[in-house]
Amino acid sequence: EKAGFEHFMMKEIHEQPKAVRDTLNSVVKDGRIDFKEMQISDEDLNKYEQIYIVACGSAWHVGMAAQYVLEDLTDIPVRVELASEFRYRKMPLNQKALVIVVSQSGETADTLAALRLAKEKKLATLAIVNVVGSSIAREADHVLYTLAGPEISVATTKAYSAQLAAMYCLAVQFARVREKITEEQYSFYISELLSIPEKMEKVLEDKERIQWFAAKYANAHDVFFVGRGIDYAISLEGSLKLKEISYIHSEAYAAGELKHGTISLIEQGMLVIGVLTQDELYEKTISNMLECKSRGAYLMGLTTYGHYEVEDQVNFAVYVPKVDEHFVGSLAVIPLQLLGYYVSVAKGLDVDKPRNLAKSVTVE
Ligand code: F6R
Repeated sequence: EKAGFEHFMMKEIHEQPKAVRDTLNSVVKDGRIDFKEMQISDEDLNKYEQIYIVACGSAWHVGMAAQYVLEDLTDIPVRVELASEFRYRKMPLNQKALVIVVSQSGETADTLAALRLAKEKKLATLAIVNVVGSSIAREADHVLYTLAGPEISVATTKAYSAQLAAMYCLAVQFARVREKITEEQYSFYISELLSIPEKMEKVLEDKERIQWFAAKYANAHDVFFVGRGIDYAISLEGSLKLKEISYIHSEAYAAGELKHGTISLIEQGMLVIGVLTQDELYEKTISNMLECKSRGAYLMGLTTYGHYEVEDQVNFAVYVPKVDEHFVGSLAVIPLQLLGYYVSVAKGLDVDKPRNLAKSVTVE
């Protein structure tokens, strides 16, 4: 049942190209995105003035990444909320908002409660869900299914990637319907989206390099992940993957925040992982990382092929293929998932069932 892999997590990491391909293929028809099955019309997509993305854990990280993509491609302001906060927060809600809840299981208590609250307030709701027929899928006005298949490992990988892909489709379609991008750009974005699964395969081919690095860092006590924009959102997910299965303390910081407090924690030998996939932000983030290096930190830089200057700046470089920058997080997250996995294995831990955690969190 593990298809020759030692753990479900590794099997599911390898199923990501398929999860993304299946999810994309369910909405991309003849080179166009088609949301007919979830009963959302172009008219609907035109009327929203605000998007709230509400979720927990990794699904919230998907929201964090999607926010940058949606806001850059469309004219709609996006706010990302933790479901456990949203449901108790008395915030003024825009009546012309679309509330997007994201959940693999479709049963997460806080996310379900947030969905019910949004419905009570008469807001339009859309659920991005993996489990067909789950509570969230049944109750939301519209459902966009991720086709990741059953996910067994507690630490999510393929559901996360499928959720990201679903979000990209929403962003591109919103952008086209609202005429924020031309027909040419629309076709370009769709072909970039369709290129993701194959590029994911390529990232997976380099896994031994990550395994080697993980063995070296299995005894680390503290790890920092840094990045700006989409790279920050990917850092959040990388940090959670590492800590939840390896029990190594790790934190993700928006790189610009380091000097507002956190840099005082940097000590000799500490590992700082920088996500550097956004060309415009590369110089800014690498300079924050170099400040850590001069205080003794060991640097891992995760960037795209072509940024070979990184070799002179960091101690360990990891590359992913290029794809339109809005979508590169889908590739950058994989080496970070692998890092968490291999560190956990090197420490002899229960990778698929980390202590104190359940796959589906049905209590608040
Ligand atoms: C982390 C992880 C969790 C879930 C979170 C939400 O690897 O899997 O953080 O993402 O518990 O679960 P769902 O998506 O089922 O609502």
